[in-house]
Amino acid sequence: MNTNFETITFEDQDDFGVLTLNRPDKLNALNLKVLSELKEILTSLKSSSIKGMVFTGAGEKAFIAGADIAEMSDMTVEQAKEFGELGQSVTLLFEELPFPVIAAVNGFALGGGCEMAMSCDFIYASEAAVFGQPEVKLGLIPGFGGTQRLAKIIGRNFAKEIIYSGRNVALSEAKELGLVVKSFANKEELMAGAFKTLGKISRNSPKAIAISKSVMNDGNDLTVSLGLKVELEQFSEIFGSEDKKEGCQAFVEKRAANFTGK
Ligand code: COA
Repeated sequence: MNTNFETITFEDQDDFGVLTLNRPDKLNALNLKVLSELKEILTSLKSSSIKGMVFTGAGEKAFIAGADIAEMSDMTVEQAKEFGELGQSVTLLFEELPFPVIAAVNGFALGGGCEMAMSCDFIYASEAAVFGQPEVKLGLIPGFGGTQRLAKIIGRNFAKEIIYSGRNVALSEAKELGLVVKSFANKEELMAGAFKTLGKISRNSPKAIAISKSVMNDGNDLTVSLGLKVELEQFSEIFGSEDKKEGCQAFVEKRAANFTGK
């Protein structure tokens, strides 16, 4: 797996990965290079055996301060379509990874930054976190999923108020809205908290986690009755897995399960 990138870093720490957007002088803004590198690493991580990943931003100020405004300022309609498609494909890749990804938001998560965080499984944040979809202030609209995912996470009316006003959303409000699951005093504690959660998750069946993730993401776009059909299919299928046999047997034998992910 290529881990030699200009604008991102990927570190493998035992069972877990840390993906860091590394363009702090531009507050980790998403340009074509960053998005292409994210696409490459996320595509190769689809077949990785890690059990979870933390996605964060380098520096003290920002997770990601949005799509790169300087780069967007000269884009034609055709180029914008390609840019939007690339950004959206990155968000879909986060959702397609067969392990959980925690967005560790350590500062500004604006525009594309908020959109990238929302495509992770859930968001943990430090006290410095600030969210928002300020695109309308630039005469734009969110293009990497913000019009869709924000409404699904916090409800359409709250999402409309935030997107139409382009205002910042501070940590306390982001928590009230359910955008942020847990908060921490600073970046160090944020990363430690994210790893602690991944540690707990990794004691469970990797197969069951991967299937829960895909069923929940797929179900998000379906009616409840269609979602139940997807759930039932996967619920029954998992009864043929080694992890199911091991998990149930370990419970009966009063011992810890030794899952293989098969
Ligand atoms: N695109 C391109 N460059 C960006 C950027 C973005 N979205 N956000 C920040 N930067 C750059 C700045 O241009 C500046 O570069 P420079 O030092 O070469 O001039 C650098 O990052 C530092 O940003 P700066 O604005 O000086 O920091 P600040 O602390 O004063 O303000 C923000 C922080 C986040 C409030 C401000 O940078 C901002 O409003 N950014 C744009 C947010 C946005 O609209 N995002 C959605 C885009 S669709």
